[in-house]
Amino acid sequence: MAWMVASANGAAGIDAVFERFCAGELDVLDAVERAAWVVEDDPEDHSVGAGGVPNLFGAVELDASIMDGVTLRAGAVAGLRGFRHPISVARAVMERTPHVLLVGEGAATFARVIGAEPAVLETQASLQAWQRAIASLEAQELRDPLTMVRALTHDPERAVGTVNFLALDDEGRMASAVSTSGWALKWPGRAGDSPVIGAGNYCDATVGAAACTGFGELSLRTQLAARCVDLLAAGADPSEAASRAIGLLRRLDAPSSERIMHIVVLRADGQHGAASTRAGTRYAWRDTSVPRAVLAPRVVVALDGPA
Ligand code: GLY
Repeated sequence: MAWMVASANGAAGIDAVFERFCAGELDVLDAVERAAWVVEDDPEDHSVGAGGVPNLFGAVELDASIMDGVTLRAGAVAGLRGFRHPISVARAVMERTPHVLLVGEGAATFARVIGAEPAVLETQASLQAWQRAIASLEAQELRDPLTMVRALTHDPERAVGTVNFLALDDEGRMASAVSTSGWALKWPGRAGDSPVIGAGNYCDATVGAAACTGFGELSLRTQLAARCVDLLAAGADPSEAASRAIGLLRRLDAPSSERIMHIVVLRADGQHGAASTRAGTRYAWRDTSVPRAVLAPRVVVALDGPA
């Protein structure tokens, strides 16, 4: 058997790699990396890779991380500009440096040194989205950049999005990958949870893996992915671990428009689950019993109830 789990926007990525993963042509790290490539290359996904909505000053900045659940090795990049596959740069950080996380210009220099493929990430559609946002500020006569960033980032429909992948093979190896262009119209240099191991991504093949999408500041403040895996280790099943992890956010002070979080979980025995603060959201999974990725509902966890 083999298993892959993803955020719903990762379904096509799972299907692009799953058969080669099952055949042993791709190992768990290859599977999650190459699945992420599919979404990073999709200009219609405005939260990952090319076509991501730019930051406040009009540049697309990418965050990504990858983790090997067998060795607990990890690699990540944050605020990376101008490269097609941030997930592969993150993997190279893991495999070719003694470091875990490279940021900004240092990450871009590293990407150039390893020969990562450059790319123009800003598309006509993403630049138009940015221009519309700036025009709306001008209409409100907002000029102070700190006020601007607050005003622009309040729309949850465009503010957040990310893709994550979790994989498990028939020998118990696991890996996880997360890739995003982050909070739309964010302050330049803002890093979210996706490149922070433990916050947006965690994988331990002896227990399981978890990864987050949503407002990364919430998972950064709670180390949410690692705490979800801790809940698995303590005996919770995947749906319960995902729900209880999101419940940990209840005590955080944050505006209601920013209290959005989704989490996917894959246990080391292949059981999986997902939870979200929003009704109607789904996650993708596939194992060898189904011919293509299945979209399944997430458990809904209200954050406004009792802690
Ligand atoms: N969860 C993605 C981000 O906040 O950047």
